[in-house]
Amino acid sequence: MSTDLSLMSTYSYLPVNLIKGNGCFLYDDKNNEYLDFTSGIGVNSLGYCNSKWVEAISNAASTLQHISNIFLNKTTLNLADKITSLSDMSKVFFCNSGAEANEGAIKLARKYSFDKYGNKRNKILTLKQSFHGRTLATLTATGQDKFHNYFFPFVEGFDYFSANDIEDFKEKLSNDVCAVIMESIQGEGGVYPLDYEFVNEVYKICNKQDILMIFDEVQCGIGRTGKLFGYEHYNIKPDIVTIAKGLGAGLPIGGFLCNENLSNVFKAGDHGTTFGGNPVACAGALVVLNNICTQEKLNEITENGEYLMNSLKNINSNLIKDIRGKGLMIGIETEIPSSEIQQKALEKGLLLLTAGKNVVRLLPPLVITKDEIKKAVEILKSIFI
Ligand SMILES: Cc1ncc(COP(=O)(O)O)c(C=O)c1O
Repeated sequence: MSTDLSLMSTYSYLPVNLIKGNGCFLYDDKNNEYLDFTSGIGVNSLGYCNSKWVEAISNAASTLQHISNIFLNKTTLNLADKITSLSDMSKVFFCNSGAEANEGAIKLARKYSFDKYGNKRNKILTLKQSFHGRTLATLTATGQDKFHNYFFPFVEGFDYFSANDIEDFKEKLSNDVCAVIMESIQGEGGVYPLDYEFVNEVYKICNKQDILMIFDEVQCGIGRTGKLFGYEHYNIKPDIVTIAKGLGAGLPIGGFLCNENLSNVFKAGDHGTTFGGNPVACAGALVVLNNICTQEKLNEITENGEYLMNSLKNINSNLIKDIRGKGLMIGIETEIPSSEIQQKALEKGLLLLTAGKNVVRLLPPLVITKDEIKKAVEILKSIFI
């Protein structure tokens, strides 16, 4: 593919020209078929061209494509009702992306702390190896130096602690901390699920000190791990939850949810966005929640995730160092660069993601079938053995 594009060179493009999709398959301009284990980085939860989703967004687009947030609209309200009742959270704010969701969550946490404790308690603790977005505040929150090059000065009021190291957390705690942000499974950082005891210990300390816990569920939420949210595997209830990716199923939407305690922190004018809660994106998101976030479907995702995990673990290859993850979010740590595996898989009709130099990341659509999983595992086997 030509590098002489009028697009900025922010991405390294794979050498394939995808032109259409159907179900869990994508097709290039030569009509070659690819089994998709990327789902647009966790977005296309319903696969491609899902008829219910297409119908819902088409109807919304041909009825009322957008109105300003100074007007209430029924579709957005329906989505808000649905997601707050499914999650047992109190309120939601809709925006357009994961980074914007995390920005809003940071603002909400700081306002809560400001209202209660004054302006000196505003620090946010985040995890090393985390990823929270590309805006300046979420880039600062991201605990990976490789994303930080060039873009200083950063936003004040962040510090980092190591995942699964409770002593490091206690060391970083100070009187000015107002919130902690974590992903229950670190996605971009290499697909690392956090330890149960660690999360619960942090949770206990935060509750005691009125430090808010923000869970970034942008990648691992909305059914991806077999539960509505990844943090449910830890039997805890965060104060703020951020969402995006899989909720959109192909259209941009993000959001942050809060519990009762925070529901009146933001007043009119404290936060806003032009496109957030757009009726077309919300109509599509309702289809996602109605079709992915049912107990029956979540059980199927769990079962398919276990089938995928067990099948991968049966591949006996000295190129594989570790396999980890939950549900349909799986990382394969490799002895060779993950980009080499990605390239070979592409040649064999399987699309994969990477998460860093040595982790192949699998994020298939949540509607993937066992037969499709079997097909993907056969291709991976032929590459690894
Ligand atoms: C956990 C997590 N948070 C935030 C983001 C940023 O989301 P977006 O790219 O929609 O801004 C991502 C994106 O990969 C993510 O994985």
